[in-house]
Amino acid sequence: MSAAAFALGTGRAMADDRTSGVPADSFQLGVASGEPEPDGVVLWTRLAPDPLAEDGHGGMPLRPMSVQYEVAEDERFTRIAARGAALATPELGHSIHVEVRGLAPAREYFYRFRAGRDISPVGRTKTAPAADASVAAFRFAAASCQAWYHGYFTAYRHMAEEDLDAVFFLGDYIYEYAINASNLWREGVSVAAAHNADVLTLEQYRLRYALFKSDPDLQRLHARVPWIVTSDDHEVVNNYAADFPQYDVSPEDFLRRRSVAYRAYYENLPLRATLLPTGPAMPLYRRLRYGRLAALHVLDTRQYRDDYPCGGLATGTCDEANDPNRSILGPDQERWLFDGLGASDTTWNVLTQQVVMASIDRTIGAGTSYSFDQWDGFTACRDRLFDVIRQRRVANPVVLTGDIHRSVAAELKADWTDPDSATIGTELIASSIGSNGDGTDTDSLGPIWLSNPHVKLYNARRGYVSCTMTPTELTSDFRVVPYVQRQGAPINSLARFVTEAGHPGLNPA
Ligand SMILES: [Fe+2]
Repeated sequence: MSAAAFALGTGRAMADDRTSGVPADSFQLGVASGEPEPDGVVLWTRLAPDPLAEDGHGGMPLRPMSVQYEVAEDERFTRIAARGAALATPELGHSIHVEVRGLAPAREYFYRFRAGRDISPVGRTKTAPAADASVAAFRFAAASCQAWYHGYFTAYRHMAEEDLDAVFFLGDYIYEYAINASNLWREGVSVAAAHNADVLTLEQYRLRYALFKSDPDLQRLHARVPWIVTSDDHEVVNNYAADFPQYDVSPEDFLRRRSVAYRAYYENLPLRATLLPTGPAMPLYRRLRYGRLAALHVLDTRQYRDDYPCGGLATGTCDEANDPNRSILGPDQERWLFDGLGASDTTWNVLTQQVVMASIDRTIGAGTSYSFDQWDGFTACRDRLFDVIRQRRVANPVVLTGDIHRSVAAELKADWTDPDSATIGTELIASSIGSNGDGTDTDSLGPIWLSNPHVKLYNARRGYVSCTMTPTELTSDFRVVPYVQRQGAPINSLARFVTEAGHPGLNPA
């Protein structure tokens, strides 16, 4: 089948009158793929001829439109592997999420969409290896925290030049804050007044995704590599904990906000229909696999967590944080995670999640204080996880974390007060892509974090972690850009560690 066949249409779908009237230039939000499986991926796009239309509808008429897709083995679409049509509806912001099946494992594919007279940019994706396949190497990057208004996503431009199999995104794909002169640090841009408001409604969340997705480097990376995403707090509102909003609003109003925020999240990312939210509930935690090399446990530490301890304390000293009943995962996800870890038969177990797992004492010298937004607010839950890892001999746990806008590498210890105690696992914390602007090598928090002996790296510039995982070792390369508030920054390697299979921890390389 030739490229011309696509351009001419494929019969029935094209005869549907829902293909007529699609506005021109509807692919301005780009294309994406995600959730790689051995036999398929999810393909995403969202029609928006006027992405920043202030009503949040992206310039689309409020009726369904048919979108065709094609998947090919080659970039010129001469060897077609799959094709079909999907309906973009106003109920889901004219997004589509095509679950392609029947593809071959561990191979590259190219895809594109057609709506009306327009053909989308071509995306490239890659399926996962067969579940029982031996895998020589898995190359991935971990990223989080893309405050568009704080800087350019130059790090993504560099990431797109790496030969990656997947990107893990760990939360804060958007921020819900009003954008105005006080926080708009991205040089040379201005935004309409519609963006200078806290994001509350479905239309506002949609508009916010469109604004952030206007970054060409973000679109480039989505079109280049499949993403495996999870969300943190700012996809809804800062520091929310399950049903507890942390700001003055009724529980009903908060859950209404969470419902529309989750819906907009689903609409804008390459997620399966099984992850579609129902009201304020989004079944986001899930497990993927990369052959016999790695199990990928994607966590949601935000939706089911207990509220902040000691009357809402975010940082400080509070015995209630150690209450054995507290959980950052909730009982169902804990059971699911522990069962999955116990049953895992892969060389590595990757936990992709949001907030720092390593214990970080914030008081240098005598006394202690902790951040209760992180796993330090749920120490019994962390202890239960570590008990499972030890008792069930879970192979090679590696935790990927975002949230703090710093590059940090830490060893997860059996006893946080004893540096000589056993190392249970390895935590790699990706800095932000844009959040906090240019950044510096160190800052006032640096000495505090580094006073915890299991912290092996601390840096406050923007960047990401690039990893190569093999059956014998994991190499983690922390990459940073010297600035983001203006365009064109080069990428530098900040530090590199090797973690040997069978020996958790960080060896400088
Ligand atoms: Fe963030």
